[in-house]
Parts: sequence; structure tokens; C-alpha cells
Amino acid sequence: MTVTIVGAQLGDEGKGGVVDLYGDAADVVARYQGGDNAGHTVVVGGEEYKLSLVPSGVVRGKTGVLGNGCVVNPETLFDEIDALRERGLDPDVRVARRAHVILPYHRVLDGVEEEAKADSDAEIGTTGRGIGPTYEDKVGRRGVRVGDLLDADVLRDRLEYVVPKKRDLYEVVSGTTVEEAGVESEFDVDELYDHCLEYADRIRADDMAVNAGDFLADRIDDGEELMLEGAQGTSLDIDHGNYPYVTSSNPTAGYAATGTGLGPTTIGQGEVVGIVKAYLSRVGSGPMPTELDGDDDDLATYIRDEGGEYGTVTGRPRRVGWLDMPMLRHATRVSGFTGFVLNHLDVLAGLDELRVGHAYTLDDEEVLTMPATTEQWADCEPIFRTFDGWEEFDSEAVASQGYDALPAAAREYVEYVESELDAPAYAVGVGPGREETIVRHNPFE
Ligand code: GDP
Ligand code: IMO
Ligand code: MG
Repeated sequence: MTVTIVGAQLGDEGKGGVVDLYGDAADVVARYQGGDNAGHTVVVGGEEYKLSLVPSGVVRGKTGVLGNGCVVNPETLFDEIDALRERGLDPDVRVARRAHVILPYHRVLDGVEEEAKADSDAEIGTTGRGIGPTYEDKVGRRGVRVGDLLDADVLRDRLEYVVPKKRDLYEVVSGTTVEEAGVESEFDVDELYDHCLEYADRIRADDMAVNAGDFLADRIDDGEELMLEGAQGTSLDIDHGNYPYVTSSNPTAGYAATGTGLGPTTIGQGEVVGIVKAYLSRVGSGPMPTELDGDDDDLATYIRDEGGEYGTVTGRPRRVGWLDMPMLRHATRVSGFTGFVLNHLDVLAGLDELRVGHAYTLDDEEVLTMPATTEQWADCEPIFRTFDGWEEFDSEAVASQGYDALPAAAREYVEYVESELDAPAYAVGVGPGREETIVRHNPFE
């Protein structure tokens, strides 16, 4: 069977930890979208692993697959595999021949477009990894795929067609030449070609290239268990998120089929688990009706510090807010969650009371789910419900004793979310470690 893990909010909900938690029962863990814009954390026995491309199941020694829906930067991938090897792991990672390759010019174009938008305060706050430009080339039918790397003639043709166009684009958007900007290597066909041939050598040497759909279907036919690891979150989805402040792929469950080559019926026969952070955090730009700002700055700082809500790369403080139920109702419908995991409940411990955005007021009407345009979403005024806070507790002790050991007010919070989403909380996260999760149900069982 399959278990699909989907971020229910704005990313960083603790998806990597949940993949690790349930990963013991899985044989293969596949990513179906996104690239190295993701940062998935696994903490076990005091060891922390931060993974951006390699599926989180490799920490448990499971086969990892990057499906055709992913965009793959080979340099990040190889660096990550090498770093894991240095830490004593032996990652078995396969990459779809149909997946698109992030090349150096994609990163440069990502940066230059953000700079151009910044002139009118319209930047997205992307991760700068070249994700958007690579998906643009995919849809524009001018991308380079993993399979193309492995055929030197096809590769050469693809680069000769696309690279001059990208150089022109760079020069128009930036208003400088690639030479003036010192980025001529990133737009040089010969240099790119040589890099790509090196990537191909490594992909061949490690036997990484697969036809992902066939590979995964064969493993399922053999009776193996498959976990699908979503990256980002529902409100960052290119279709279902708050466009244009989104990523360029579909983190929602429908893409678990398209991004792997398995049928929707295969994914649909399995479980789809939404990962929910007990409050909200946001890295990039865009509206956030339940954001804690202004008078609530102290509270925001408290939650940010307790939850370690600082960017892993830049150290930038993340924006934080109260749980947004219209956002979660929308996410539950889009992906059809069969259950969810509520993480970071420990972070809220110690507050006298907490609030939840239960609904919104929009144009004098009460609405229970997210409007379709970002401008309307920005106009939404949250209608809050207040909950009693709960005292601090010993996370490992509570996790080992089980759900009933949680303070009563914390259970009330969990059960409110269950009843609003009409889905059960399969697990509750009370700390970053594998041992700090209260497991109520294993979706593989
Ligand atoms: P992902 O992108 O969804 O995989 O999430 P990230 O790894 O980017 O961010 C989640 C952060 O919260 C990581 O540092 C996790 O170790 C940590 N984390 C996950 N679950 C919990 C939890 O229940 N409590 C606390 N305090 N931290 C958690
Ligand atoms: P994980 O998988 C949080 C955000 C960026 C920006 C927007 C577009 O760790 O949850 P992109 O580089 O994708 O074009 O940026 O999406 N973003 C994330 N925010 N967690 C992530 O991944 C993210 N991946 C992208 O901050 O707002
Ligand atoms: Mg993350």
C-alpha cells in the first residue's frame, strides 16, 4: 500500500519527522515534487539530519526515489549523499529519467527575477534554488531531463537550443550582460555540457536512473510498502495555494500520482496523511490573516524562540501566527486527508491561553474555507476561538505513556481540530525527536 505525506499549511510542518516516524514499515520512500527548496529534518537519538533532496526514509536505510515530478540539482544531490555517507549511512537513491534537471542558469534566473520584483515590493521570497525557472522550462518544453544527461548528443542539442535563450532573458531582465555580471560560466554551453557529462558519469556509476513509474509499480507488485513524501505545503501549491506567493509545483496529494507515474487509484487506495503544525509559520512573502504581529510581537517572539522558527540557512526569523482552520479545511478537501499528524504541541505549552482562527469574516459574511484569490484572503479577518493553555510537560515521558498522558487542555485542542476536519489525529508531535511523538495509529497497519 501507499502512505502519502502532505504539508497542510505553509511548509516546515514536520513532514520529514513523520516520514521517519512511520518509515520503519516502508520499503521505499519517494518524493513526487519540488527540489532542494525543501529542508526536511529527522532527529533520532540526539542526531539531527537535514535533507533537502534525498528522501527522509534513507535515515532508516530505505530506498529513496526522486520521482518525475521533482526538479533535481545534481550537485546538491551528490553533496547530500556524500555528507550522509560521511555520517555512516549508505543511501540508496534513484532518480527518475523523466525528472527535470536544475542547471546553474536556473539559480541565476531565480535571483534576478526576485531582484526585479523587489523594485515594486513584489518578491516571493523564494529559496533561490532555481525551482521556478526549472519548472517554467519543463512546461515550456525546453527543459533538460535526467534521461537527457545520459545521452551526450541529445544533451548537446538541448543545451544549444535553450542556453542562448536563457542568456537573452537574463540580460533583458537584469539590464546587464552576463559578462558584466560575472555569470558567463552559468550561460556557457561548453561549460554546462562538461558539467552535465560529469553528472551523467556519477548517475551511471551509482546506477541511479530509473523509470520511476515502472520501478515503484514493480516494488508494490512485490508486496512492498511505499511512502510518498510531499515537500512544501498546501498553501504553497501552484494551483491551490495563495498564488503568486507559492512554489512552482503541486505539494497536494493529486500530484503524488502524476509526480511518480503511479495511478491515482493506487494512491487513493492508500492513506493520505496531512501534516499540521499546531500554529503557523511562514518563510516567504504573502498574506497571513492569523499572523502574530503589532501588539502581539512579544507572543510571536516567544513562540518563535520555543519553536526554533528561524531559517536554517539565513537565520532569518520566520513569521508566526495562530492555527488557521479555514486553511486546514481547504487542505483537507484538496488532498482528502484520511488522518493527520499534529506537530509542535510542546511549543505552545506554558501559554495562559491560545487562540485559533476558526473562521473568517469576508465582505460581512462568515466563511469557513479559504477564498480563491490572494487579495480576498488578505482581506479576511479571522474570527478567533480561545482555548485554555496547558502546562509544560516531559515530552518523552508523555510520548511513552500515550495520548491520555497529555494535559487535558492539550487534548481538547487536538480534538477540536479532529472534529473540524472530520479526520483523526494519527499522531501528536511533542518534540523534534522520533521518541517525542505520541503515536495513536500507524497508517501502514
Ligand atoms: P518539514 O520541512 O515539514 O520536514 O519540517 P522542517 O524539518 O523544515 O521543520 C520542522 C522543525 O520542527 C524541525 O526542526 C523539526 O525537528 C522540528 N519538529 C518537528 N516536529 C516537532 C514537534 O512536535 N515539536 C517540536 N518542538 N519540534 C518539532
Ligand atoms: P519544506 O519541504 C517552507 C517557500 C519559499 C517562498 C516560496 C517559493 O521544507 O516544507 P521556491 O524557492 O519554492 O520558488 O519559493 O515557497 N518555500 C518553502 N517554505 N518550507 C519549504 O519546504 C519551502 N519551499 C519553498 O520560502 O515563499
Ligand atoms: Mg522544511
